[in-house]
Amino acid sequence: MNDKNPVPVWDILVRIFHWSLVVAFTVAYLTEDELEDLHVIAGYVVLGLISFRVVWGFIGSKYARFSNFIYSFSEIKAYLLNLTSDRPKHYLGHNPAGGIMVIALLLSLFATTISGLKVYGVEGHGPLANNGAVVSIISKAFADDDQHEHEGKHEKNKEEEFWEDIHEFFANFTLLLVLIHIAGVVVSSRLHAENLVKAMITGKKNA
Ligand code: HEM
Ligand code: HEM
Repeated sequence: MNDKNPVPVWDILVRIFHWSLVVAFTVAYLTEDELEDLHVIAGYVVLGLISFRVVWGFIGSKYARFSNFIYSFSEIKAYLLNLTSDRPKHYLGHNPAGGIMVIALLLSLFATTISGLKVYGVEGHGPLANNGAVVSIISKAFADDDQHEHEGKHEKNKEEEFWEDIHEFFANFTLLLVLIHIAGVVVSSRLHAENLVKAMITGKKNA
């Protein structure tokens, strides 16, 4: 790798965002079963981080902006087809495939956290707990019909199961995207003979 001409690419907030997201996502993913309190905290952290990243995508530094890495589908296709050539085109910020992956990750994380808030709300906690006051009064009146506490064991109603399925789907879909994302980082690092993981730590890339 040529270390002769490193230039700043990822600003400090993008780097803090990225590695905090890795930690919070991992904690949320691993704690869903036994440690619900920790799970919810990690989930809120993920939601906070991606909300920040959307704002930063408009007002952040040059390479952090969406306008810098949202490409047309024809450019993404051209980039992917060009990968097998001898000299694939190099980008200083996100390449077209990386750019669309950032958007996919943010959207999938958003769907995961919002559906998590819904599960939590149906369980009677969090900001979505009293979603629709009338619905909540009616469902309380009929609570005995569809939700029971048996020997301290919480029995799930249909709405809770529905949101849990959605939440679980998006959590696993995000995990799939993360695996493709990491594979993309490895492949791209090899093709361009540069260390992208190091760049996400130091913020610098070779021009
Ligand atoms: C990226 C962040 C998150 C990930 C990766 C994640 C992942 C998961 C997974 C895999 C499950 C198990 C689903 C199942 O087997 O039915 C789950 C359950 C759950 N999640 Fe999340 N979640 C996240 C964020 C959140 C947030 C923000 C909240 C609420 C504030 C939340 C609340 C819950 C609740 C209440 C359950 C059900 C636990 C139970 O009753 O068994 N999650 N989550
Ligand atoms: C240890 C595993 C991971 C490694 C090594 C890694 C590495 C990287 C690298 C090198 C980049 C910059 C890509 C480029 O140069 O264009 C990046 C960007 C990104 N990664 Fe990861 N990543 C990991 C896990 C994750 C996870 C778990 C998530 C989400 C749940 C994630 C979400 C993102 C996002 C959203 C960006 C865009 C950064 C920005 O512009 O703000 N990554 N990652």
